[in-house]
Amino acid sequence: MSPTVQCAYIGLGAMGNAMAGHIAQKLSSLGCPPLLAFNRTQARAEALAQTHPVTVASSLDQVATANIIFSCLLNDAAVIETLDILIPLLKTDTILVEQSTISPALAQKYAAKAKEAGVVYLACPVMGPPIKAKSGDLTVLMAGGESAEIRGKVLPLLIPVVGKKVIELGLQDVAESLRLKLCGNYFVTSVVEMVAEGMTLGEASGVGQDKVRELLDAVFPNSLMGVYADRMLKNTYKDEIAFPITTAKKDVAHIVQLAKDSGAKLPITEAFLKNADEVLENHGNYDLSSVVGNLRVQAGLHFDLAEKK
Ligand SMILES: NC(=O)c1ccc[n+]([C@@H]2O[C@H](COP(=O)([O-])OP(=O)(O)OC[C@H]3O[C@@H](n4cnc5c(N)ncnc54)[C@H](OP(=O)(O)O)[C@@H]3O)[C@@H](O)[C@H]2O)c1
Repeated sequence: MSPTVQCAYIGLGAMGNAMAGHIAQKLSSLGCPPLLAFNRTQARAEALAQTHPVTVASSLDQVATANIIFSCLLNDAAVIETLDILIPLLKTDTILVEQSTISPALAQKYAAKAKEAGVVYLACPVMGPPIKAKSGDLTVLMAGGESAEIRGKVLPLLIPVVGKKVIELGLQDVAESLRLKLCGNYFVTSVVEMVAEGMTLGEASGVGQDKVRELLDAVFPNSLMGVYADRMLKNTYKDEIAFPITTAKKDVAHIVQLAKDSGAKLPITEAFLKNADEVLENHGNYDLSSVVGNLRVQAGLHFDLAEKK
């Protein structure tokens, strides 16, 4: 990594803030200029500058002076809004490292726009919740970049920095990493649906969901099942919103489209979506583990959010 390389990070939400912090430390250790940190709401960039070696960027024009620009934004609309302004401002050979969970088709569209502008686009969505982003324990899914040389410039800023593992996909089609990311989120939402059904079955049949939780821990130790069973058992979905239903629904919409495009059937996703819609409509936007509430209501069991209404 040349010590003159200037990097920037756009989007300092729950995920981007943590990743930008790790990248800033890495750049500092390499003797590179401080990371330019940009966020639509500038206060978030200012807060990051209190704890990390970053320079607050106040405009996308300022961000465009960088050689490598990372972004992690909420959804397709946020990426469109940002990249439509940013790409025309960029210098030839700038590398864009896009980390948001967006539709594969949108990633392809902006990779093509970037190429027209002489800019390289790498799609690097990540697997793992904000807590793993904080501990630098994400899995990076990398596609695009066109050459191993370009990847060689970016990889040392991601591994072992924001995560310990990268899954490398094709050099040309940036959509490959988004498709894999959607497969990953298919598993997350399906595990939530499965655990919600199993916890409800345990409670409704009289063994108790605490015993179901104990069984999951014994038979499938240290798994995502245990994490979600715990949230359902302790009703933490109200106060600890790690993955809001609306964000999960955004991802599920992409998953359903991917399934349609490829002819795959996803009955578990359909069941999850039905429960998610019921909870969102009747109770609010809580952590996705709250889908258990709809199953509990259907089984004639108590659901604490229903009681509040
Ligand atoms: N949370 C997770 O568990 C998780 C895990 C893996 C991947 N992801 C993906 O990572 C991405 C970010 O997620 P997050 O959890 O960090 O979300 P978040 O905390 O809600 O942060 C969203 C970021 O996007 C910005 N943003 C939203 N709308 C915008 C717009 N129209 N124009 C410009 N900026 C906009 C926000 O800026 P403001 O501060 O101004 O609102 C903020 O920086 C999403 O694509 C998500 O699916 C999330």
